[in-house]
Amino acid sequence: MTASQVHFADFIQTHDRTASILADAKRLSEQAIVAEGIEMVYHAGSQDYHVLRGVDLTIQQGDIHLLMGPSGSGKTTLLSILAGILTPTAGSVKLLGREITQMTREQLAHFRLQNIGFIFQGFNLFPALTASENVEVALKVKGIRGSSNRRRMAQALLTQVKLSDRINHLPRDLSGGQKQRVAIARALAGDPQIIMADEPTAALDSHSGHAVIELLRQLAKESDRTVLIVTHDPRLMDVADEVSLLEDGILKRN
Ligand SMILES: Nc1ncnc2c1ncn2[C@@H]1O[C@H](COP(=O)(O)OP(=O)(O)OP(=O)(O)O)[C@@H](O)[C@H]1O
Ligand SMILES: [Mg+2]
Repeated sequence: MTASQVHFADFIQTHDRTASILADAKRLSEQAIVAEGIEMVYHAGSQDYHVLRGVDLTIQQGDIHLLMGPSGSGKTTLLSILAGILTPTAGSVKLLGREITQMTREQLAHFRLQNIGFIFQGFNLFPALTASENVEVALKVKGIRGSSNRRRMAQALLTQVKLSDRINHLPRDLSGGQKQRVAIARALAGDPQIIMADEPTAALDSHSGHAVIELLRQLAKESDRTVLIVTHDPRLMDVADEVSLLEDGILKRN
């Protein structure tokens, strides 16, 4: 080999190494949710319930991931741990590259507000507040200033979930599907990168269920958000990028 060929070979090798380091960094930065070795033991009375056993889960940014499994298998427990609502007995959770299991309570609360939108099964709307006010409260909690500003943003979010004609309705005057869409608009307040939903279609008829599913799909695909959904609903499998199954506290990737 001539000297220039050696230099060229070196250059290519260095270049390859740099490219591979960059590819690794990109792949890592695209991991929105990484859980490792999650164990959860509940203590109730003198009994211990070992609900999660060594759960590992990685979800790429922009993916829709379904978490399925029988009733009582630990789905809500795992979702609550991934959202930082519940502290696991053991294991680590990284969201958007940050280890939430190492954060102080204040850091975690702040991180959650900035980055996670949570949709609960029972909607969890304030019954005395209108659709818009329910979303405005979330915007306020997330630090958005100015009541007229919040009102404008709430209306834009409600329009996004196709409720522009129900802005001033109270929850009791909305259908189940409409309530769920208010809950989705509220979860979108502050534009979080990760949306977590616990049985978002469970209480809905087939038509409203489809509308909610389509909305969740759009949220993931059009805005590159990561959406993690706990569900029993097989209709959601059509929109999922990945499905995992929790059984007896053990997570299996389908
Ligand atoms: N705070 C608690 N103390 C003791 N046991 C609990 C507690 N919360 C949940 N469990 C138990 O942990 C297990 C998993 O509960 P979890 O709510 O995570 O299940 P799930 O898969 O979400 O069920 P479902 O599909 O019915 O919502 C259940 O057996 C439940 O009884
Ligand atoms: Mg549950």
